[in-house]
Amino acid sequence: MELAELKTMYKLPTHIGFIIDGNGRWAKKRNLPRSQGHIKGFNRLEKVYKMVRELGIKYISIYAFSTENWNRPKEEVDGLMKLFRRVIKDFYNKNKYEDTRIEFFGDLNRFEEDIKTGALDIMERTKNNKDFHINICMNYGGREDIVQAVNKLIKQGKTLVTIEDISQNLYSKNCPDPDFIIRTSGECRLSNFMPWQSTYSELYFPKVLWPDFSKKDLIEAIKEYSSRDRRFGAIKE
Ligand code: FPP
Repeated sequence: MELAELKTMYKLPTHIGFIIDGNGRWAKKRNLPRSQGHIKGFNRLEKVYKMVRELGIKYISIYAFSTENWNRPKEEVDGLMKLFRRVIKDFYNKNKYEDTRIEFFGDLNRFEEDIKTGALDIMERTKNNKDFHINICMNYGGREDIVQAVNKLIKQGKTLVTIEDISQNLYSKNCPDPDFIIRTSGECRLSNFMPWQSTYSELYFPKVLWPDFSKKDLIEAIKEYSSRDRRFGAIKE
C-alpha cells in the first residue's frame, strides 16, 4: 500500500511520539557494538521522518536521550553525542529543514558547549517554520519538565497554578499533545516520556526493534491508530 492511499483511507494522528527502543538489542543480535545499533536507528529515523511527512503528519517527537541515559557506558554515550553532532552538522550542510521547526526538549546545559549552542541556534533559526515540527527530546525527563515548569511559575510569583499554566511552561508549549505514542521493541511503558502530555494519547507497542521499523510497520501502526475509539473520557451518543 502506498502512503498517499493511506491518507485517504485512515484517520491520521496530528502528533506522533516515538520511543525508539531496541537499538542495543538489534546490535547485540548481530554481534555489533551498541553504538552501531544507534547509528542504524538514527538512519531509520530519517527514513521514518520522510514517510511521516509524506503522510502530512505535522508533528513528531523523538525520545533520543533520557536524563537516565547518562548512566550508560562512556563509549555508548560518546557514540550518541557523535550522532547529535551529526544532526547539527547536517542541519547546516543541507537545507532540508526550511519548512520544519526543530525544537530540543530537555535541559541542554548538561551537553558540551558545541552541542548546546548548535541546538539553541537551530531552534532560533527554525522558529518561524510552520509546516512540520520535529521535537528532539534529549537529556529529557517528563517529570523534570513538569518541575521546571512549576518553578518558572513560582518565580513569576504564582501561588496557585492551572493545568493551562503548566502546559504553557513545558518544553512542548508550542505543540499539541501527542495523539499517538509508538514504542518499539515490545516494552510496554513510557519511561518518563511526556507524562503530562500523554494522558489521552493512544499507546502502541509493536515488537519490532527500532532499526527494523519499516514502512510496513508504520502502515500497521496507522491502521491501529485509526481503529482506536478516542473518547477523551466522554461517551459516544
Ligand atoms: C534506545 O535503544 C535508544 C536510545 C537510548 C538512543 C537513541 C538515540 C538515537 C538513535 C540518536 C537520535 C538522535 C537524534 C538527534 C534524533 P536501547 O539502546 O535502549 O536499546 P535496547 O533496549 O535494545 O538496549
